[in-house]
Amino acid sequence: MTDPVKLAVVYYSSTGTNTEVARTLAESAEKAGAEVRLRRVAELAPDAAIESNPAWAANHRATAELAVATPEDIEWADAVIFGSPTRFGNVASQLKQFIDTLGGLWAQGKLADKVYSGFASSATRHGGQESTLLALYNSFHHFGGIVVAPGYTDPAKFADGNPYGTSHVDAQGANPVGDETRTAARVQAERVVGIARKLKAGAAL
Ligand SMILES: Cc1cc2nc3c(=O)[nH]c(=O)nc-3n(C[C@H](O)[C@H](O)[C@H](O)COP(=O)(O)O)c2cc1C
Repeated sequence: MTDPVKLAVVYYSSTGTNTEVARTLAESAEKAGAEVRLRRVAELAPDAAIESNPAWAANHRATAELAVATPEDIEWADAVIFGSPTRFGNVASQLKQFIDTLGGLWAQGKLADKVYSGFASSATRHGGQESTLLALYNSFHHFGGIVVAPGYTDPAKFADGNPYGTSHVDAQGANPVGDETRTAARVQAERVVGIARKLKAGAAL
């Protein structure tokens, strides 16, 4: 028997969409037998910007007690799922800033051979979820990571339709996270944990 898979869910969210998806991923991974660290990355925006948007301020307060990600969380993990809202088709600077603190681990080869996957959200259907996920996945290749995308490995993936990772169209708050996105998150979490478990078992031989 090998130890449980250690999974870190590391994400940024302004207005709460990615917080919801991150929580679903974490709960699903725990149900799948993983030991999970749910971590938000540090906020970089000034208080005035946060307070100018009620949804941003509410999410900021609601996640204040959630631990902030550190490089040690990545070192600890067998698998990492990163999440970000789309910012002009790209990864949010807050998450990118965290990724850019991983240079020390990278230089020691400590980011390699882990499982990585991603999730994203946008306001509009063609607003850049896939480009955001693929931008995130660029870094995973530099890590020497093992990219585990959901693909269409479960019939539910034909409903949400994004093989790159869980994604959600929030319609600027008008479309809260619902069953379709939660199912996609569950499928992704189970797949990431399952593949990481096989790798871990193989490494223990
Ligand atoms: C600066 C900025 C850039 C954005 N760029 C895009 C974009 O390119 N396409 C899009 O559909 N939504 C865009 N959005 C909207 C967010 O990505 C979207 O509302 C996201 O779901 C918010 O996630 P969150 O609630 O976790 O913060 C942008 C928002 C901001 C503030």
